[in-house]
Amino acid sequence: MEYQLNRIRIWIEDDYAALSKRAADIIKNQVDAMPNTVLGLATGSTPEGTYSELVRLYKTGAVDFSKVVSFNLDEYFPIKKTNEQSYYYFMRKHLFDNVNISEANTHIPNGEAEDRVAECDAYDKKIASYGGVDLQLLGIGGNGHIGFNEPSDVFVAGTHHIELDASTIEANARFFASTEDVPKHSLTMGIRTIMSAKRILLLASGSGKAEAIHKTIFGDITPKVPASVLQLHPDATIILDKEAARLIVGKLS
Ligand code: GLP
Repeated sequence: MEYQLNRIRIWIEDDYAALSKRAADIIKNQVDAMPNTVLGLATGSTPEGTYSELVRLYKTGAVDFSKVVSFNLDEYFPIKKTNEQSYYYFMRKHLFDNVNISEANTHIPNGEAEDRVAECDAYDKKIASYGGVDLQLLGIGGNGHIGFNEPSDVFVAGTHHIELDASTIEANARFFASTEDVPKHSLTMGIRTIMSAKRILLLASGSGKAEAIHKTIFGDITPKVPASVLQLHPDATIILDKEAARLIVGKLS
């Protein structure tokens, strides 16, 4: 089912597979219409299905990434590219190594940077040099974070270095050998960087995201729920499965 709430378009799909297919179709259509699209990409378990569907579409010849440029949202800091939990490694495994995107066109904040401030400044400049992101894919943290913009008293504008919330370290520990192994910091696009994208596509699956989604769509616009800022975006789409939509379905018509 599709709903329009103020400026946010909301799709509620039966399950994760349908959500992933819907998201992949939107990305495919964007790339078809504009082959040199600048895609903003996300990591986490939520977009994995979208990436595998895009790989499937690519293998059938339905989509061509040869001119696509990509900028990832975030990366742990510090982390080596060879670490299997780095977002650098994730993107290669789930998408880049399986489609015809040119490696030179892919960008991820450098978790090995010696000067993290310079790395963040350079990242925003590089995005701007490509004319900005055309379509930004987002997941959402259980605490409402987007990228690694954690709940805070202020919205931080550009790409920046941030200390991770204890709840995020806990949530991401499932990917690491132990909680102690989760990097305590990250480099992340800021809220201005994300909001500058021409289109935004946020995905959420599972009942653990239901509260964050409710606050994002119906709550106050506040840096305490970073995703709530999407209420101000002129072209934001949110795709949910039934569990993630559990607290909002009754309020949509
Ligand atoms: C991670 C990432 C976010 C992601 C979120 C949700 O920490 N930095 O970009 O959206 O947390 O992750 P998942 O999709 O695994 O629930």
